[in-house]
Amino acid sequence: MKFTNEINRRRTFAIISHPDAGKTTLTEKLLLFGGAIQVAGAVKSNKIKKHATSDFMEIERQRGISVATSVMTFEYNGTLINLLDTPGHKDFAEDTYRTLTAVDSVILVIDSVNGVEDQTRRLMEVCRMRDTPVIVFINKMDRDGKNRFDLLEEVEKELSLHLHPMTWPINSGKDFKGVYDLDKKSLVLFTANTKASDEDVVEIKDLSNNILDEKVGEADANTLRDDVELVDGVYGDLDVEQYLKGKIAPVFFGSAVNNFGVKEMLDTFIRIAPLPQSRETSIRHLDVQEDKFSGFVFKIHANLDPKHRDRIAFLRVCSGRFERNKYYHHVRLDKDVRFSNPYSFMARQKDVIEEAFPGDVVGLFDTGNFKIGDTITEGEDFYFTGIPSFSPELFKEVVNKDPMKTKQLEKGLLQLTDEGVAQLFTQFGGNKKIIGCVGELQFEVIQYRLLQEYGASAEFRSMPYYKACWITSEDQKKLDEFTRFKTNNIAADKDGHLVYLAQSEWFLNTERQNNPDIEFHFTSEIH
Ligand code: G4P
Repeated sequence: MKFTNEINRRRTFAIISHPDAGKTTLTEKLLLFGGAIQVAGAVKSNKIKKHATSDFMEIERQRGISVATSVMTFEYNGTLINLLDTPGHKDFAEDTYRTLTAVDSVILVIDSVNGVEDQTRRLMEVCRMRDTPVIVFINKMDRDGKNRFDLLEEVEKELSLHLHPMTWPINSGKDFKGVYDLDKKSLVLFTANTKASDEDVVEIKDLSNNILDEKVGEADANTLRDDVELVDGVYGDLDVEQYLKGKIAPVFFGSAVNNFGVKEMLDTFIRIAPLPQSRETSIRHLDVQEDKFSGFVFKIHANLDPKHRDRIAFLRVCSGRFERNKYYHHVRLDKDVRFSNPYSFMARQKDVIEEAFPGDVVGLFDTGNFKIGDTITEGEDFYFTGIPSFSPELFKEVVNKDPMKTKQLEKGLLQLTDEGVAQLFTQFGGNKKIIGCVGELQFEVIQYRLLQEYGASAEFRSMPYYKACWITSEDQKKLDEFTRFKTNNIAADKDGHLVYLAQSEWFLNTERQNNPDIEFHFTSEIH
């Protein structure tokens, strides 16, 4: 238990939202509180700008800035906070899903006008798979949003999440007057375009006090009294244990752009958010307090400068102390590796670090040794489980347009798929190389990067598949039979795992019915 103090002072989390809900704005306010940046506007949005001439060129631009914003570390009231960035564009959702495997909790931003949106749903599904604790920030209260009760009901229903309001809003839009902190029993008054300061906080021990009427007017004061009575009656005190189990999500109302309601949330976050957690591995439970170092790679950034094959692998420390220049065991390659220039990420500036502790993310300079999911230990052979690959939904055959560059093409495909940009399958019967993605944009990115970085010219030919499912069976004979019978629909992923490529939902359902001994999986563990 050598590192208990270091572990106790760390919190590692991500902010997730549907694009435009206010993730970037909130991130910036949190960094301002942490003193990590001095001026507003310092955090570059990682979303695709609406007026960009070409989406994928915009993605290239983003790749440049997103190394710097991949991990933002700052200190607030003695707590060391690691905020992991998640790509905004839905075509890159897989990257976000994997980042969620490296955090201990999330803050979910919801736009009070739009309520629950597509990406909110998908992201929350991933959180639920892991029972990740969630704090909800309902943003843009300065806009005429949905009725507060309706909104909470919508979130609870659509996301199957039990909510627990921590603050309660007084109106919205131009009548927004502030929030009542249900826990501290104080009123925080809102003035547009000014940062909430201590003077805006009025302590109200008893809501029947006239001071409330003075501050917000009699009608709003009475509505607040009624609301609070109702809310208190329904929710009572927050059960922190249930929050930590991912069962109850505390909710804050605010306006990120006005820096309103953010501090209340941050204060609660450092009070209740989970410490770096213990994890499961392929052979045993790994306690975060163990002395020996271990960690895993959840993200790789490659070839930012086409002239150098430089890659940065992002490693989440899971136990022990990571030290610069020390030899560690790369489990998959079964070899010893050491890192002379590991980075830490103090808000947009990379620093070489000497050591790191559980919860931290270290950037490792890599020359091609890493792929997503790789585990590094002090010698023990195990890998961390639960790092998923998701069934892609778009499939295209790779057509080599320049036979002289076949080697480069193969290398490029391997490296780009190691990075997690897309998945690579090799079809049985015919040996076709198939790229599977979750979004159309990824094909453009791959084509562009193959040419720019590897000098390989490739085109893609659409394939009529609807989903790729990993197949396994207790009965090897049945599995062999199935793969023989369905050769054209069977492929191997990069790790040699068998995949069934279904033409349509009907085919998939039929095969599942006809082959009860075969299991069809929609996610696969990387390894
Ligand atoms: P994202 O990262 O989740 O995609 O969202 P981002 O923070 O970029 O915010 C999306 C838009 O919403 C931005 O406006 C931002 O200023 C605005 N916004 C964020 N918080 C609030 C809020 O509390 N109230 C209101 N009214 N607006 C908010 P934009 O016009 O798209 O961009 P910008 O030109 O202002 O940067």
